[in-house]
Amino acid sequence: MKDPEWSEFIRRLFQEAEPYLAVRGDMAHAQVSHDYALTLIRKEGGNARIVEPAIILHDVGWSRLDPREISIAFGVLAEGEEADRLNHIHELEGASIAGQVLKSLDYDPLLIEKIVSIIRTHDSGVDIRSREEGLVKDADKLWRSSKVGFWQEAERQDLDPKELYRYLNERYKEWFFTSTALTLAGEDLEERAKEIDANRLDST
Ligand SMILES: [Fe+2]
Ligand SMILES: [Fe+2]
Repeated sequence: MKDPEWSEFIRRLFQEAEPYLAVRGDMAHAQVSHDYALTLIRKEGGNARIVEPAIILHDVGWSRLDPREISIAFGVLAEGEEADRLNHIHELEGASIAGQVLKSLDYDPLLIEKIVSIIRTHDSGVDIRSREEGLVKDADKLWRSSKVGFWQEAERQDLDPKELYRYLNERYKEWFFTSTALTLAGEDLEERAKEIDANRLDST
């Protein structure tokens, strides 16, 4: 059911997040992942008052790193100690910025605490402590196989789409906490495979 007040709050939240997300070009990521989060909430349950703000704000912490650092920690292929360290910084800084943004909007302090705690380990945490945390992690990772996400990441990380597809297809089954996300990622990847084939035909 549509709640106009809530829709307005979500619009406002995107507005607040925009300057932070713009630093790494993450606005599309936040929007696409938010759409997936809505689907996951619908199919899996979970508190939208936690999941939606958390997914919108989860990557605002990249804004605290400089471009060189961002490039080290960037993307699905980033690995190594330095990448892990920088990745952790984006989680901690993101949690702190998200807390400030939500506080400035007079959001419920108990919900802020839950949202901040999810953002603090959204990438590095292996286990989940709540259904909401699982949904945020799943919505974040669904970006990778989404139409916008796949092609945007191939371009900005300068990856051969075929290579990126192979990488995702080999690993995606290990990433998700919900069966809905697993199914969606599988369907998305089938679509990406068709697009890659179509692209190849276009270029010959
Ligand atoms: Fe992140
Ligand atoms: Fe993310």
